[in-house]
Amino acid sequence: MARIIDGKAISAQIRGEIAEKVAAFTAQHGFSPSLTVIIVGEDPASLVYVKNKHKACEQVGIKSDIIRLPADVSETELLSLIDKLNNDKGVNGILVQLPLPKHINEESVICRISPKKDVDAFGYENVGRILTGNFDFLPCTPAGVMELLHRSGISVTGKDCVVIGRSNIVGKPMAALLMHENGTVTVCHSKTADLRSHTSRADILVSSVGKAGFVTADMIKDGAVIIDVGINRLQDGKLTGDVDFEGCFEKASYITPVPGGVGPMTITMLLQNTLTAANKQI
Ligand code: GUN
Repeated sequence: MARIIDGKAISAQIRGEIAEKVAAFTAQHGFSPSLTVIIVGEDPASLVYVKNKHKACEQVGIKSDIIRLPADVSETELLSLIDKLNNDKGVNGILVQLPLPKHINEESVICRISPKKDVDAFGYENVGRILTGNFDFLPCTPAGVMELLHRSGISVTGKDCVVIGRSNIVGKPMAALLMHENGTVTVCHSKTADLRSHTSRADILVSSVGKAGFVTADMIKDGAVIIDVGINRLQDGKLTGDVDFEGCFEKASYITPVPGGVGPMTITMLLQNTLTAANKQI
């Protein structure tokens, strides 16, 4: 039977630590670290994410501004807003909520954010820094996964790590972070032949597929650490991950639930990155 990694509790603990550091920063410098989030259009899921980020900032004393733009805003207008925020000393972190409407090139927008304010760590400079190991910011979800491992006393060194999913936001940086900590990493994806032959060898399995019930007990090794990055909404409205939790719970040594596992950590790492950005800009 697995131990459940309580992302909500770990996240609350880290947010407490961040709040103390933010208070010390504010007392020392006379202003608070600040984050500006840009949201384009009315995507309901994005609106919820942005509201949650705002609430989390307020909780720890980070100044949070949300700029809402209409869905038909031009790419040029969005880029000039980013230029303005890049040059604004009162803004430490900039985040453009994704996805963007189809007429806007996401890569151009992400890469326009000053690398020093790129608290998502999605731009070319920060991605390169992550691969070389010379980084200030880590992308929030993979960084959150690493914190969950650290604070649960799980070492990566020498372990067979399998990541399912090769996205720029999760899979690729996740693989880099596991390699930095001396894991032997395999990245699987939709074209992987015989997925099970890989997952069944994994000491640490990270799933970021986006399909409910994708990872079943027969695919995992006895005693594996199972990290579920998936967030999938079922027809009844409930949230669930990629992993068949009940089945894998019996076989794993550690497992993250959904909700209450990786999810709360993502925003916590954004708070951490915003504080880091503010400290770097002093
Ligand atoms: N949309 C879904 N997840 C994310 C994220 O981590 N950052 C941004 N900017 N947009 C997202």
